[in-house]
Amino acid sequence: MAMDRLEGRVALITGAGSGIGRESALRMASEGAAVMCADINPEGAQTTAAQIAEHGGRSATMELDVTSEAAVQDALAQTVSVLGGLDVLMNNAGIGGAYSWDQTISVNLTGVYYGTFHGAALLAERGGGAIINTASIAGLAGLLTGQLRDEPLQEGAGAYVAAKHGVVGITRQFAVTYGARGVRVNAVCPGYIHTPMTAQISDIEGGEAFIASLHPMGRMGEPQEIAAAAAFLASDDASFVNGVALPVDGGYTAR
Ligand SMILES: NC(=O)c1ccc[n+]([C@@H]2O[C@H](COP(=O)([O-])OP(=O)(O)OC[C@H]3O[C@@H](n4cnc5c(N)ncnc54)[C@H](O)[C@@H]3O)[C@@H](O)[C@H]2O)c1
Repeated sequence: MAMDRLEGRVALITGAGSGIGRESALRMASEGAAVMCADINPEGAQTTAAQIAEHGGRSATMELDVTSEAAVQDALAQTVSVLGGLDVLMNNAGIGGAYSWDQTISVNLTGVYYGTFHGAALLAERGGGAIINTASIAGLAGLLTGQLRDEPLQEGAGAYVAAKHGVVGITRQFAVTYGARGVRVNAVCPGYIHTPMTAQISDIEGGEAFIASLHPMGRMGEPQEIAAAAAFLASDDASFVNGVALPVDGGYTAR
């Protein structure tokens, strides 16, 4: 079933060089959007763009470190100049749980703040649009991953959960602030998804089975399942959806 919900739209996706960002870029392009694939890893972004081209879609790539406010502003401006507009912004770039407090906050929270702050202003100026922030189940509750290892807490423990709760807060605040100006701001909250970020789970004995068991559906998710939710939130099918933190987690947060 081909859908053209995003025909004529332009989307900027951060962290589009891997995992959830890549699949969201492919999905939005398949629904008709021209996609700027931005990533700190330019080769990853180029691979995504090549896959979009294989399917007949339109895209461009750029190297972007979301921890630089000027670079985020430049990415928004470049999307408009290279692809001719901006209608959708997915602040998706992120790092996993193994980093310091400062690194985690800087990519996963400050990076999303720069995108939402400057992106909402630009979208409003252009007449409206949709922002999708990739939060997490860790934006809604604490994580049980400590049960996987019997080690002392590392520096940065809890930073991922704090950052993702912050992303949900930013999402709600900007949804309220910009709702009247035609900019919808929502978050998607994935459960554990098979991407390079979670690849090490299966290196731990029983890791995948334990993580799967935390989801009432008894499995981890696939990045395409998050991309489907992101495309919905980006589209006019979500025209009255604003300020939600949508779990896409097989029921993880339902219990
Ligand atoms: N995989 C999961 O289980 C899961 C669950 C919930 C939320 N998330 C969130 O989904 C998002 C995408 O994660 P993923 O699983 O696809 O991981 P991934 O590692 O496959 O992809 C993340 C991408 O972000 C890029 N990136 C990292 N730092 C960056 C920076 N400073 N500037 C620009 N790009 C940067 C990486 O190069 C990579 O291409 C993240 O925000 C992550 O926290 C993932």
